[in-house]
Amino acid sequence: MDSLVIEGGRRLKGLVEVPASKNASLPLMCLSLMTDQPVRFSNLPQVSDILSMKALLASLGVHQESHGHFHSAKLKSVRAEYDLVRKMRASILCLGPLVARWGRAEVSLPGGCAIGERPVDIHLKGLELLGAEIKLEGGYIHAKANRLKGCRLPLEFPTVTGTINLMMAAALADGESVISNAAREPEVAEVAEALRTMGLTIEGEGSPEIKIQGKQDLNGLDWQIQADRIQLITYLAAGAITGGEVTCTPYRPKSIDRVIEKFRDMGCSVEESASKILLSAKPPFKPVNIETAPFPGFPTDAQAQFMACLTLGDPEGGFSRIRETIFENRFQHVSELRRMGAQIRLRGNLASIKGVSHLSGASVMASDLRASASLVLAGLAAHGQTQVLRVYHLDRGYEKLEEKLTALGAQIRRVPQ
Ligand code: EPU
Repeated sequence: MDSLVIEGGRRLKGLVEVPASKNASLPLMCLSLMTDQPVRFSNLPQVSDILSMKALLASLGVHQESHGHFHSAKLKSVRAEYDLVRKMRASILCLGPLVARWGRAEVSLPGGCAIGERPVDIHLKGLELLGAEIKLEGGYIHAKANRLKGCRLPLEFPTVTGTINLMMAAALADGESVISNAAREPEVAEVAEALRTMGLTIEGEGSPEIKIQGKQDLNGLDWQIQADRIQLITYLAAGAITGGEVTCTPYRPKSIDRVIEKFRDMGCSVEESASKILLSAKPPFKPVNIETAPFPGFPTDAQAQFMACLTLGDPEGGFSRIRETIFENRFQHVSELRRMGAQIRLRGNLASIKGVSHLSGASVMASDLRASASLVLAGLAAHGQTQVLRVYHLDRGYEKLEEKLTALGAQIRRVPQ
């Protein structure tokens, strides 16, 4: 298990080229299960979650000529094994496409994970409404259907992967489906746009109601994946916490409005153009209140990074408050940030943060992807040396993190174990 060693206290400055979005790429890759034509991506990221999805698709028999090229004229299996699913919960995204195109799927039930229980009941209920027969047996979801039938799909909660799974299943069903209370995240909208390019009639993505006219055959796809808005936020936060100046590109206006609002409330300056965003900052930050929510609300995936920044609030300025409403256990960075000198009080899903004048370097343990990012941010700002252990969590979703931070002026190196 590699670790990262950071000598903190350097002001970061410069331009970051933001890689393609992991959370858009994972479902986009599953579109290859839905057509007998090739599906190609020009900029598929090189992070370990993408490698896990490639391994899963390979195990099903999807031919991959090179990184980003997928072709599934025939499949050799419709079973997503536990060993692959337990590495990455997003493996559940193959369920909708498999049952819709191939009439059968056996997908290991993802267990809980570090950030919460994360059930998949909404995915399964939706597939049943579309006419699939679902059984849970031996730790696997067994799904079958001769042909799915379009219907109304009201979601109890606007789940991101749930909306996408059902959108993909409904795409190959007979007739019209309407998903209501759909997730509105840009990654969901991108999958809908890609499906439209494959010949599907679909409208309403980005709104709570998505209408789909099912189709028997879809065309192939040549696609460039949007930049990762969560990596982008993380690099802006690296600029903020070090009192620096960071520009990120490509940037999609309207994709992180609530985040920009909070950076500004903290006292950072943010300038946007059609393709770039620039943040400059000077801690201490003004205290702010944040509540995570489905898009267009404040993303849970940026909560940990903001908490790291807010530890450097004005010690006389009162408390910042962060309420996490999406996942029940997404505060594992708190105890590690405390070890670096942060003053954070936790009550259930509410964290109250009192600013301190500085953080001190320490050895800290990464527990999940975004918690790890927050510890790296804290290390960049801390006095002295920080060692972030278990960085394999970061490798799931951050491409060339050390390289990008070094180019901004950070002193950070990976220590292989
Ligand atoms: N939920 C249910 N039942 C379901 C589905 C979800 O109760 O059938 C609950 C979850 O337990 C959770 C809430 O609904 O409390 C939201 O979960 P959602 O399904 O929206 O999350 P997800 O689709 O599993 C995606 C991202 C996460 C991101 C969340 C929220 C991917 C591959 N993952 O997960 O990304 O945090 O949406 O925006 O797109 C990350 O990248 O670090 C990450 C965890």
